[in-house]
Amino acid sequence: MRFLITAGPTREAIDPVRYISNKSSGKMGYALAGAAAHEGHRAILISGPTALDIPPGVDFLPVESAQEMYEAVERYIHQCDIAILCAAVADYRPIDPAKQKIKKNSDTMVIELEKTPDILGSVRDVFQFEGALIGFAAETNDVEVYARGKLERKKCDLIVANDVSRHDIGFDSSQNEVTLIFPDRSEPLPKASKEHIALEIIERACIIQHNKTTKK
Ligand code: PMT
Repeated sequence: MRFLITAGPTREAIDPVRYISNKSSGKMGYALAGAAAHEGHRAILISGPTALDIPPGVDFLPVESAQEMYEAVERYIHQCDIAILCAAVADYRPIDPAKQKIKKNSDTMVIELEKTPDILGSVRDVFQFEGALIGFAAETNDVEVYARGKLERKKCDLIVANDVSRHDIGFDSSQNEVTLIFPDRSEPLPKASKEHIALEIIERACIIQHNKTTKK
């Protein structure tokens, strides 16, 4: 199978040296790409800035902003059978980033933000991708309820939900504990290394794609 995987945070420029971002280390997405390659699949890893090594056997495409990630996904998704969007894409970006470094002349400052493109939400309706689509949901409360809403709105086959209010899993941790939200059921996966969780997700993703193609 051919996988497209997004990982890491995005950076949304405020000026040439400052940006809006988040705590994603990229570990979960890199573990997914590594697991796919380990299992003999092809993987394109589209990643925001991280400090991680590129997993062996993976095609790597570095990006910086949500817009760049959107364009990379649009460009490569049709070369793939399965898309797993694990990146923590910034939801808002400055409308008008300054061309030069902003000087600290005033005591307060207001930066006007606009929504970034919804990559996951574009996969079916804009990119017209028909392969297996797996999204993530980073929630701090009512995890399953919000995740199931995302599954339906974004027309995913699976949402991997994690509780990012916890410090021992989720953002910037080596472990995760997730609930797999399928259209007809939920399946909790106990706390384990991100590498182990990644292998479980890759296995489920292949089954979903296999079922899709045999139904056609
Ligand atoms: O990188 P790590 O430190 O290992 O941490 C892993 C993780 C916590 C980042 C990962 O497990 C995770 O939860 N990733 C999704 C983070 C996120 O942004 O979740 P969300 O609920 O805000 O977004 C829902 C889905 O929409 C995600 O698949 C996201 O990639 C996607 N999205 C979000 C915004 C946007 N503009 N475009 C998108 O495609």
